[in-house]
Amino acid sequence: MTDRADAVDTATDELRSAHDALAELYAERLADVLDRTPADRAVLGLFCDLLGEHHAGHVIGDIGCGSGRLTPFLRARGLRPHGVDLAPEMVRVARRDHPGTPFDVADVRKLPFADASLAGVVCWYSLMYLAPRDRPRAFAELARVLRPGGYLATAFKVGDDRLRRGGQRVGVAFDIYWHSPAWMERAVTTADFKVVFSACRPADPEEDQPQGYLIARRGPASP
Ligand SMILES: C[S@@+](CC[C@H](N)C(=O)[O-])C[C@H]1O[C@@H](n2cnc3c(N)ncnc32)[C@H](O)[C@@H]1O
Repeated sequence: MTDRADAVDTATDELRSAHDALAELYAERLADVLDRTPADRAVLGLFCDLLGEHHAGHVIGDIGCGSGRLTPFLRARGLRPHGVDLAPEMVRVARRDHPGTPFDVADVRKLPFADASLAGVVCWYSLMYLAPRDRPRAFAELARVLRPGGYLATAFKVGDDRLRRGGQRVGVAFDIYWHSPAWMERAVTTADFKVVFSACRPADPEEDQPQGYLIARRGPASP
């Protein structure tokens, strides 16, 4: 595996460069943000509970892991996260700040995991950048690497599904989509997942938009 995912298009290069530039900022500012976001903790806790004791010690993918801030939470619940991110700098700081946890440069559209090898995948604010043409491939990849009955958990900024430019507040720019909960439910259902939890919370004072959460179980459709 190289430390650079395949260059595929201009938007991806722009996204990767932006997140390379943001990596140290993420490490500084977001390391303990989970302590201040009870809704995030609750949904991630539900994801861990759904995986159950049976999956304790199993590998789960932290897809678009950024600086790896979810790692302590997931490890404390007996899971073995394996982070991947498009941005090499994010992977570098994640490795530095969370020694003992594997992190690799990879793209959600081409994941470095074998078929049905993971008990769960977490995509925390990392599925918001996919261009329409890339979405089927990305969701199919998530389904491919999950074992039947495995769980996907995702958090996302809620909006009207239109293309926007993001990152300007922190001096970068990239394409981003704020998805509706209905959009996210459709995307996972189309990829043979069954939605088991979906919620939306209002924006906090420092946020621009409500936040969405979804957990889905990979088919077969019922346990
Ligand atoms: C908003 S950050 C969230 C990081 C982390 N999940 C968190 O909650 O702190 C989004 C991350 O997704 C990564 N990302 C975006 N598109 C990706 C893709 N196609 N494949 C892998 N990672 C991606 C970015 O590089 C960035 O680190």
